[in-house]
Amino acid sequence: MKSKTVFICQSCGTRSPKWLGRCPGCGEWNSLVEEVDEERGPAAEPSFAPAEPQLYADIKEAASPRLELDCPEFNKVLGGGAVLGSLILIGGEPGIGKSTLLLQASRDFAAGGRSVLYVSGEESLEQIKIRGDRLGVGDGALYLLAETNLERIIAQAEKLRPGVFVLDSVQTVYSAKLSSSPGTVSQVREVANQVFRFAKTNQVPAFLIGHITKEGSLAGPKSLEHIVDVVLLFEGERDHSHRILRALKNRFGPVSELAIYEMGAAGLEAVPNPSAFFLKERPVGEPGSVVTATLKGSRPLLAEIQALVSTTLFAGNPRRMTIGLDHYRASMLLAVVEKKLGFGFGGEDIYLNVAGGVAIDEPAADLAAVLAVVSSLKNRPLPARTAVFGEVGLSGEVRSVGQPLARIKEAASLGFERVVLPRGNLAALGKDETPGPEILAVRDVREAYKCLF
Ligand SMILES: Nc1ncnc2c1ncn2[C@@H]1O[C@H](COP(=O)(O)OP(=O)(O)OP(=O)(O)O)[C@@H](O)[C@H]1O
Ligand SMILES: [Mg+2]
Ligand SMILES: [Zn+2]
Repeated sequence: MKSKTVFICQSCGTRSPKWLGRCPGCGEWNSLVEEVDEERGPAAEPSFAPAEPQLYADIKEAASPRLELDCPEFNKVLGGGAVLGSLILIGGEPGIGKSTLLLQASRDFAAGGRSVLYVSGEESLEQIKIRGDRLGVGDGALYLLAETNLERIIAQAEKLRPGVFVLDSVQTVYSAKLSSSPGTVSQVREVANQVFRFAKTNQVPAFLIGHITKEGSLAGPKSLEHIVDVVLLFEGERDHSHRILRALKNRFGPVSELAIYEMGAAGLEAVPNPSAFFLKERPVGEPGSVVTATLKGSRPLLAEIQALVSTTLFAGNPRRMTIGLDHYRASMLLAVVEKKLGFGFGGEDIYLNVAGGVAIDEPAADLAAVLAVVSSLKNRPLPARTAVFGEVGLSGEVRSVGQPLARIKEAASLGFERVVLPRGNLAALGKDETPGPEILAVRDVREAYKCLF
């Protein structure tokens, strides 16, 4: 084995023979880390017999047997359970509850009579046990292993032959075959590859936990996305108790499902109806509150956008605050309101917030944000049971958005009787004869304003 050093971007995996301040691949600053470049011999894939080409027609349809989890919400996110022999990566920020989520799942697997090997590279067995007691882990074949050497972990797994394998986390274990430190791109790839092989040869689902940073830089795990079969993201705001679990990639199912959990003393409790959950404390008939139908992944979710417009104390320098919405986008929308609706708020502080700590990152919430600001400014609520979606352009035009039907259905299922949406989305609705909410299709913000105020 010949080895030399190479600099690898920890964010996108780009390799460079010399150190660079900025990655030429992804533009990230200071992301290149020196690693030892081990050239691999052909022995890298030992456990599979050489493959032969096969005629398409001769290939039997893969049944991909699945292992169902006790938690129906988790099952749905996985597309109907964990496929045997699949590698599932669960990424999330530090402290968000990844270990809790998988220890709970392990508890349920074990209670259901399936043996589980839960390997931790970052916590002692005693620490895990404290969490387990809180989660009510009972009898059953749940095995814990505190180990950071990957080869030893795999050897133990081969010996135990568990029905489910969990590794917490991919950044804290290392392969002795490589000399780079744990958490580097080469190491996390090697870890994923070896666990992948274990999962495939033994036909067990394997869960990998991966840390991601607040900046959304998936660091190591980003380069894992190609290797693993499923990528789930576990996210939430630290000062809110709810967590969102959703799929970013799934080789065995859609990525349209979303599960909401609430973190409590006894662990994570699934919330059966996410939209209802986010709207439950919504003030009805209050100015400045507008419900929008947004997409999380490809699943619709209703969220409340709140605006508060109040006279500023800082003449000449009014505040513009946004939480849960993109700040630049919000500034643009305020400019549109001023220019196209003729409101001036040079003397006003404006606060925009998505209630419940949901982050909305799609322009489909634009129209709701605009109407929330106008509603607060005029101190008049929107008509009751009205949901709004549509992207707003610089000329004040309301542009069509993806999946209008799914959004309307979600709104209807929660009792909304009127939906304001872009005129351009009307065609996509087709001639649906089933009675649904009243549809108000608008061309621009002025039309929306006239309809509602
Ligand atoms: N006694 C408790 N009651 C309620 N919630 C708790 C309790 N103890 C811990 N928690 C919650 O569990 C969270 C930590 O969960 P967990 O350790 O599963 O996260 P993690 O994502 O694995 O973190 P790490 O990045 O450190 O591995 C804490 O942020 C806290 O919200
Ligand atoms: Mg953890
Ligand atoms: Zn890069």
